[in-house]
Amino acid sequence: MFRLFFQLTIISSALLVTAGCERSESPVFRFNSVEWVKQEKTHLADGEHFSEEYKTEIGTIMTALFGTPDDPKFPFFLGDEDPAHDIITIDNLRMAAGPTRVDKREPASGLYREHCAHCHGITGNGAGDTAASLEPYPRDFRLGKFKFKSTPLRSPPTDHDLTEILVNGIPGSAMPSFRTLPPEQIQSLVEYVKYLTMRGQFERFLLGELAALDGEPLIDLSLVDKPDGEEPSDDDIEEFEDQMYTVIGEGLQERIIDRWLRTERKVTKIEPAPPEFDLKHDGHSQFVQQGRELFFAKGNCMQCHGDTGVGDGQLNNFDDWTNDWIKSAEVDPEDPATYSDFSAVGALPPRPVKPRNLTRHYYRGGDHPNDLYLRLRNGIEGTPMPASTAMTSDEIWAVVAYVRAMPYLDSNKNGAAKPVNEKQVMR
Ligand code: HEC
Ligand code: HEC
Repeated sequence: MFRLFFQLTIISSALLVTAGCERSESPVFRFNSVEWVKQEKTHLADGEHFSEEYKTEIGTIMTALFGTPDDPKFPFFLGDEDPAHDIITIDNLRMAAGPTRVDKREPASGLYREHCAHCHGITGNGAGDTAASLEPYPRDFRLGKFKFKSTPLRSPPTDHDLTEILVNGIPGSAMPSFRTLPPEQIQSLVEYVKYLTMRGQFERFLLGELAALDGEPLIDLSLVDKPDGEEPSDDDIEEFEDQMYTVIGEGLQERIIDRWLRTERKVTKIEPAPPEFDLKHDGHSQFVQQGRELFFAKGNCMQCHGDTGVGDGQLNNFDDWTNDWIKSAEVDPEDPATYSDFSAVGALPPRPVKPRNLTRHYYRGGDHPNDLYLRLRNGIEGTPMPASTAMTSDEIWAVVAYVRAMPYLDSNKNGAAKPVNEKQVMR
């Protein structure tokens, strides 16, 4: 099975080399140079560099497995039987990929470039044309982290989570709502996000392997790609398959694709709220008061959100997308000279992540109580907002009640936890 796939890989990459010339006008996926520089700075002595050959090898592997922005592919290792067909279908990738469609009477295609690329970039690197002027920056999918989802930290989101993001947008950020798109187009974009994410995760994995190779090739294509059509020997093929197994079997299949399978099974159970959560319940005000106490004590929420919840606590944290590279080298986020090597290859200037102002009644991940329950229970992946692991579900509900009441409380003045007008707290 593997062997057949590898043969196809070689054939397709060879084809691409020849087809490359005609396609020079088409956009290409951008190499993850920030990760490259990070790996160099982490593992090599000052002034040393990885061999440029690795860029060609990685490019060949990536194109063979994932295709191009105009002609996406996905490595279905087990052919029609591959469970990865549940994560991604080629038809949906094709609908999202390709150039923006000019004639709207044509069947849908090019959706990602039409709706998303100017912010998220063709590659999903979060560095589209408008990115630098946005706060927060558009998401770089390649790290494989998502903030607003029903699954715990380190589990990928479900299709439903991503659909909700596309349908609702992310209030308080530039991420718009795509509510007007038909469901099949939303689904194709959801799958394209997963595709760009897995592609980016795998490229990062390959880059992470380089330091340990000590100059040896990542995959030695010359083992099977002989000059003058010469047949590779069995030993060559075996050696090549070993190399492929390590990078593709272990790196892509086991660490990345398998984790995106059946994400629904990982969804966090939302325990029902106790009766006191209900606004009409006599005990509601005490419940909000209990939530307030937890906010300051066990929850330690004021550390970041501030005593009054306006988000003026700890302000010098960075999110994981930024920490990922600034922590690798001696980067001082205040001093551009210390990160000029990263800026030169496209890293956006580091900006601290702001804790949410909780007195404004807007939530990026949805304002249903269940959404807030999930944010507290699981934290917000990729940001300093932690999972409230020490709190019972009733305690979490009490904090949710307090958070929902906050915009209407006079707590600045006297710490009273009674809503000014309880009706206002209704959704
Ligand atoms: C005008 C800019 C803009 C456009 C257009 C845009 N996005 Fe976004 N998107 C953002 C920003 C900014 C964020 C980050 C918000 C945050 O971190 O809170 C984001 C975040 C996301 C996320 C991450 C959600 C999470 O839970 O972490 C996904 C997925 C996403 N966008 C998909 C898309 C798709 C698909 C399209 C096109 C259909 C699109 N975006 C179009 C700006 C944009
Ligand atoms: C270490 C800092 C930190 C602590 C502690 C913390 N938060 Fe946060 N919180 C954040 C940051 C940062 C964000 C913004 C994340 C983002 O980029 O979307 C946030 C976002 C939120 C949101 C917004 C969710 C949304 O959908 O927009 C809520 C609600 C929230 N926090 C409540 C709490 C509560 C309640 C606690 C205590 C149990 C708490 N936070 C503890 C840093 C923190």
